[in-house]
Parts: sequence; structure tokens; C-alpha cells
Amino acid sequence: MYVDTQTSLPHTSRIYDYFLGGKDNYEVDRKAAAEILEAWPDIRTAARTNRKFMHRSTKFLAESGVRQFLDVGTGIPTEPNLHQIAQQITPESRVVYVDNDQLVLAHARALMTGAGPGAITYIEGDVTDPISILQAVERNRMLDLSQPIGLSMVALLHFVDHSVDDIMATFLDALAPGSYLAVCTITADFAPDQVIRAQEVYRVRKLPAQVRTFDEVTGWFAGLDLVEPGVVPPHRWRPEAISTMPASYDAKVSCYCAVGRKP
Ligand SMILES: C[S@@+](CC[C@H](N)C(=O)[O-])C[C@H]1O[C@@H](n2cnc3c(N)ncnc32)[C@H](O)[C@@H]1O
Repeated sequence: MYVDTQTSLPHTSRIYDYFLGGKDNYEVDRKAAAEILEAWPDIRTAARTNRKFMHRSTKFLAESGVRQFLDVGTGIPTEPNLHQIAQQITPESRVVYVDNDQLVLAHARALMTGAGPGAITYIEGDVTDPISILQAVERNRMLDLSQPIGLSMVALLHFVDHSVDDIMATFLDALAPGSYLAVCTITADFAPDQVIRAQEVYRVRKLPAQVRTFDEVTGWFAGLDLVEPGVVPPHRWRPEAISTMPASYDAKVSCYCAVGRKP
């Protein structure tokens, strides 16, 4: 019997799209999302806060002189997308988007057309195979690996149950000095019950889900200069206005983020 895995199995990209109020999700995704919301009622706030971190960290990188971006785990397009933020500051910024979901691929093709003067490319790839991603980037001369690159992995690594240390080592080895790494990922440090229950909803559906501790996230930045304020919940990373968020907000968001620079 033919089974359309796109509509019969949930996918992390479409569940996230649902949390952000998007329309690119199916019944099976909404069912999983409802269970996740039961476990973690504030996950929509977490998704929006994560997305805003992507906006601010991309702006920071562009203002720091980065002109090339490699965004792994791009997600279903949600405006503003990373290239729109980078190109607003430097129109010639080049962006390579990477994701492993077919639906993101379908949307990304549409997104690429009509882009600004800087080249925007999409490749289907898996973060657990960084060599293939780097080879594709190099083979097609999408980015110049001898020049600084902003490597963005936002709301991606909690869907990776491989060794992130190894993945980081491979990427960071290949990147030129002056490159940056920006990460945001889920932690159970602030509200273990809600996060572990939500993690289970993914796992029973055979979707990898892995929460990380403060020390694990800090370890991914070994050898990099951590940009102030270091590893913090995303609403505390260089907020646009003075942050008056109470400590209880950290539990609602339950993520750590950070930006580091390769010396
Ligand atoms: C929650 S979305 C994050 C989207 C965007 N980065 C953001 O922060 O708004 C996670 C994305 O990572 C993708 N993804 C999950 N596992 C992946 C993997 N092993 N390799 C590449 N992409 C993956 C999913 O398809 C999804 O589009």
C-alpha cells in the first residue's frame, strides 16, 4: 500500500510552522502539536522568542561584517527570513539555506526566486553529515570558505541525537577565522517536567528529540570567543529593549542560545 509519508507522519518543520501560526502543516502535525502544547503550554512563546533571536543574531553578524551565511535547519519560510535581515544591512550578502525536509525544499525553491542582489541558494542536506554540506557549498562555489561565514543552527540541534561536538568540530574546522556560530536549542534546565514530556511526544513518533544542559551548549563553543552575554535564554541575548523578563520567563522559553567567533 502506498503511504504518503509527508501527510501520514508529523515533521518537526511543520509542527514548528503550526506553533508560529503558519499554514504549512497537516492534521498529523497539528495532532502532535496539541499533545506538545498540553505538556508545554508556552511553547508558542518559545518558538517566537527563538525566531526573534535568529533576527537579532543575524543582524549582529551582518553588522559585525559577515557577508556569507550558512543556515542549517532553515525551516519553512517565515518572514522575515534570514536573508532578508542580512541583506537589509548588506544587500550583497550571500546565503545558503540547508534543511532535510521535502516541504521546506518545495517552499525554498519559490523563496529563492525574486531575491535581492546577493546570491541565495538552497541545498537539501542533513546536519549529521556536515562533510556533504560543506562539499556541496564548495563544489557549487555558493560561499567562499576562505572568508568568514556566519553558521546559523537555530532551533535545530534539539532534533539531533548524534554527537553535536563532532558536528561542530567538522564545521568549525572548515570555516575561516572571523567566522561566527549562532545556536539556539532546547534545555530542560529550567522546567524539566514540561520539556521532558514534550520530548516524549516527538520520540514516540520516531522524531529525534534531545534536550541539552548549559554545560553541553557551552562546550559546543570550545575554541570560539563567546560573544557577550554568553550562553543565555534567547530573550536575554542582546534584547532590543532593557529586559524586564522575570526568571519565570526562562521556564516558558526553556532554550539556551549563544553566538561565538572563531579567532
Ligand atoms: C524548528 S525548525 C527551525 C527553523 C528556523 N531555523 C528557526 O529557528 O526559525 C527546525 C528545522 O530543522 C530541520 N531539521 C531537523 N533535523 C534536521 C537535520 N538532521 N538536518 C537538517 N535539518 C534538520 C527541520 O526540517 C526544520 O525545518
